[in-house]
Amino acid sequence: MTELIQIKDLKVHYPIRSGFFNRVTDYVYAVDGVNFTIEKGKTYGLVGESGSGKSTIGKAIVGLEKTTSGQILYDGKDVTKRSARHAIGYNKDVQMIFQDAMSSLNPKKRVIDIIAEPIRNFERLSDQEEKKKVKSLLDIVGMPEDALYKYPHEFSGGQRQRLGVARAVATNPKLIVADEPVSALDLSVQAQVLNFMKRIQEEYGLSYLFISHDLGVVKYMCDTIAIMTKGRFVEIGTREEIYTNPQHIYTKRLLSAIPKIDVAHRKEHMETRRKVDQEYHTLQKEYYDEAGRVYDLQTLNATHQVALRNVESEGV
Ligand SMILES: Nc1ncnc2c1ncn2[C@@H]1O[C@H](COP(=O)(O)OP(=O)(O)OP(=O)(O)O)[C@@H](O)[C@H]1O
Ligand SMILES: [Mg+2]
Repeated sequence: MTELIQIKDLKVHYPIRSGFFNRVTDYVYAVDGVNFTIEKGKTYGLVGESGSGKSTIGKAIVGLEKTTSGQILYDGKDVTKRSARHAIGYNKDVQMIFQDAMSSLNPKKRVIDIIAEPIRNFERLSDQEEKKKVKSLLDIVGMPEDALYKYPHEFSGGQRQRLGVARAVATNPKLIVADEPVSALDLSVQAQVLNFMKRIQEEYGLSYLFISHDLGVVKYMCDTIAIMTKGRFVEIGTREEIYTNPQHIYTKRLLSAIPKIDVAHRKEHMETRRKVDQEYHTLQKEYYDEAGRVYDLQTLNATHQVALRNVESEGV
């Protein structure tokens, strides 16, 4: 079996409370029925505009957010309920890296304690062993040994992000949910951190759920990509399928909005963009139902799915 984790019809709805009695008057449908599978050793990309539900999916997987309905299967076992996770070491196997390491690393703790914390939750090591382990983790992410006794504010953004990576790999996880891990970094530092992430992946056979709104970064990192909007997936495909043969208008618009720097093909790009815009305005019904909701995914082939209107099921 190459599947590491399977997400089945996952929904996360946040209640909106209002009025004098603070009653639940409505819900935010942050994640509204998504299905996907992350394979062992692979990187699964999650792309979409702000507020589309990407982080909520990540948090539901690591257990920071409660699921409203649906199922999470890890190595074939149902881990939807938190109580089921402990017995199979799920919380050790699945870790998270956040966008902003400054707020996710405790500013009052020294690096050794920050990185050792997840290890302490799961293993009993002597001080000596622990120090050795943390040193080796620092080495993996290219940080010098003297970082051990420093505090997070003594590092640059890129260095802090590497500390976040070191902390996430401390428990030898199988899956890391990386939520916008390089979005706060400048381009040259982004490349460094991404390369560390790739190297660690190869070394440990890790899987990533890689969350980003940056299509360039996703193209560099991901094997399979899901594009999402309003809590739903509009398209799933391999990197090649998404970048060279996008089928949903939302995907096409995202891709055509990437700024192009090659002047030689400027006219072509403008033409593509014009066509995509036109299609968006004239073919809305093919892509969104009357309520503006994304349709269910249809299978194009074993790896490519797209959310289009299903004419057959409507009996037209
Ligand atoms: N704790 C919460 N309570 C209520 N609504 C929430 C909560 N967390 C998120 N939301 C809402 O759920 C939706 C999805 O949020 P989420 O953070 O998953 O988006 P995102 O795709 O990660 O966006 P971004 O790219 O800005 O990080 C948004 O409409 C957001 O306002
Ligand atoms: Mg987010």
